[in-house]
Amino acid sequence: MFSVADTHRSLGGPNSEMIDQIEKGKSTLERARSVVVLTGAGVSAESGVPTFRGGGTSTVWRGMPFEQLSSAEMVQKDLPLVWEWFDYRRGVVAGCKPNPAHEVIADAQRSGKFDSFTLVTQNIDGLHRAAGSTDFIELHGNINQARCLSCAFVQDLGEIPDDERPPVCPKCFDSMRPNVVLFGEGLDEDDLLIAYESAAACDVCLVVGTSALVYPANQIPAIARREGATVIEVNPEETALTSAADISIRGAAGDILPKIFPT
Ligand code: OAD
Repeated sequence: MFSVADTHRSLGGPNSEMIDQIEKGKSTLERARSVVVLTGAGVSAESGVPTFRGGGTSTVWRGMPFEQLSSAEMVQKDLPLVWEWFDYRRGVVAGCKPNPAHEVIADAQRSGKFDSFTLVTQNIDGLHRAAGSTDFIELHGNINQARCLSCAFVQDLGEIPDDERPPVCPKCFDSMRPNVVLFGEGLDEDDLLIAYESAAACDVCLVVGTSALVYPANQIPAIARREGATVIEVNPEETALTSAADISIRGAAGDILPKIFPT
């Protein structure tokens, strides 16, 4: 029988250190009972969704850094501009399809091979849902929803005309904003608690496509490791997490994940 290493050697693929890390990742996931997967923008990169950081650059739109556009302060100062920015991002995401990384994560959850499987994403792009993942945590919200500034009513943007910006809340008639977490805002406490508890209880924490720079999502692998889990990172670049990861696989999510998840 051929191993992953044999396949790579015969195809002249990655170097031996990388093959070793892939084999370790694979055998660790084969033995795992309880898994937490944390994803970031990089898991959607091969679907065509731009990341925020990476390659030494950071997203800028109309001359403004995304941290400024996606901020609680900007909602107060210029809500129509915030909507323009998020409508632009929705337009980018609208043409994107899930890639093999999203698909293999959804398959792993459905497979029943693990006693517990928790997917936590920082992404708002909806691609995990499109791939068939269910019951996952969208820590930073959902780009396809609006939320009322006053009564917090949430509405699907599909039900709101594209030119109604800002949308008007059907319940209390105040303006609505994108239902996403912005810089300067806290995360949903229940979601965060579930993510932290799952991290504390898991035996493997797989971290895919995140620079691990943004708090509090970056605490998830730290909690998992502190409580004894094996942390596996999949990312083409070194990140803030790399030195603390037990297994670090340098590669693209869509290439590596199908090689390490048990089939
Ligand atoms: P970043 O843009 O900070 O990091 C993306 C990571 O993906 C980088 O480390 C890349 O090396 C990696 N990457 C690129 N291509 C990849 C591929 N094909 N496979 C795997 N990894 C790849 O994105 P996040 O860490 O998700 O928050 O950013 C966290 C948060 O920062 C976002 O959710 C967003 C932003 O501010 C909010 O908007 C609240």
